[in-house]
Amino acid sequence: MPDTLTMNDGRAIPAIGFGTYLVPNDEAARITREGLEVGYRLVDTAAFYGNEIGVADGLSGRDDVFVTTKLWRSDMGFDPALRAFDRSLERLGRGSVDLYLIHWPMPSLGKYVETWQALVRLRDEGRAKSIGVSNFGPDHLRGIIDATGVVPALNQVELHPGFQQRPLREFHAAHGIVTQSWGPLGQGTMLEHPEVVRIAGRHGCSPAQAILAWHLHHGLAVIPKASAKERLSANLAASDVTLELEDIDAIDALDDPDGRLGPNPANL
Ligand SMILES: NC(=O)c1ccc[n+]([C@@H]2O[C@H](COP(=O)([O-])OP(=O)(O)OC[C@H]3O[C@@H](n4cnc5c(N)ncnc54)[C@H](OP(=O)(O)O)[C@@H]3O)[C@@H](O)[C@H]2O)c1
Repeated sequence: MPDTLTMNDGRAIPAIGFGTYLVPNDEAARITREGLEVGYRLVDTAAFYGNEIGVADGLSGRDDVFVTTKLWRSDMGFDPALRAFDRSLERLGRGSVDLYLIHWPMPSLGKYVETWQALVRLRDEGRAKSIGVSNFGPDHLRGIIDATGVVPALNQVELHPGFQQRPLREFHAAHGIVTQSWGPLGQGTMLEHPEVVRIAGRHGCSPAQAILAWHLHHGLAVIPKASAKERLSANLAASDVTLELEDIDAIDALDDPDGRLGPNPANL
């Protein structure tokens, strides 16, 4: 599997990074340091996670690591988004981030188009090297593309064997948008699925590695979260696992269009 994917703005993004949702700020430095020690080159954080300062501590000024952060729901709107971005940069102690995402479209607020216009400005200023969105559905994506002509480089969405988002992935493929899976392990819920355990056993790998290899096979970027160094390391090594087509088909068959674990973005 390739180590990086190329986004529609020409920039490369590591196919595997590590996530930091629910990692407290005082744990984030250790996890980030350990993540880098075992070989990760992408960390995913967000203003909402409250751990950007800890992540920055763990990065200790390294500029060879791809840093993603996100704009929280309460900061939707053009000017609020610009201000929220400045606060994230300050907490991260950097002059720019590699990828800045709108965390949720929040259609009920009706502000995702103007928020996207703010991200386009940040990209044009070079302070957000790439810009994208998270939890956007086709309607939200169409809305921002039609209004600005700027296609997001990436959409980070809930995606795991139990909720595979096929229609959205097709939309992404048609528009050159990288799909990045959040909750790639189903937030841990998919790890004991008998089919996953069987496939892992056949390949002498762990269930987490089998699932992550399935994501990578489909050209999806992944950001699994793990709290211990051993798990961080094992998850990264999923890129060395090659599943056979019958294994891919078997995991494909686990899809449940109603298998969402998080909220439906359309209803927020
Ligand atoms: N954009 C969004 O709206 C959004 C929403 C949710 C998440 N995210 C991002 O996506 C990242 C990943 O999603 P997630 O954290 O929700 O779920 P996840 O990565 O699917 O699952 C994390 C869970 O799996 C466990 N785990 C990880 N590796 C394991 C292994 N090798 N063996 C056994 N258990 C393992 C972790 O346990 P331990 O922690 O105990 O190791 C944790 O309980 C987040 O951290 C965050 O960065 C984004």
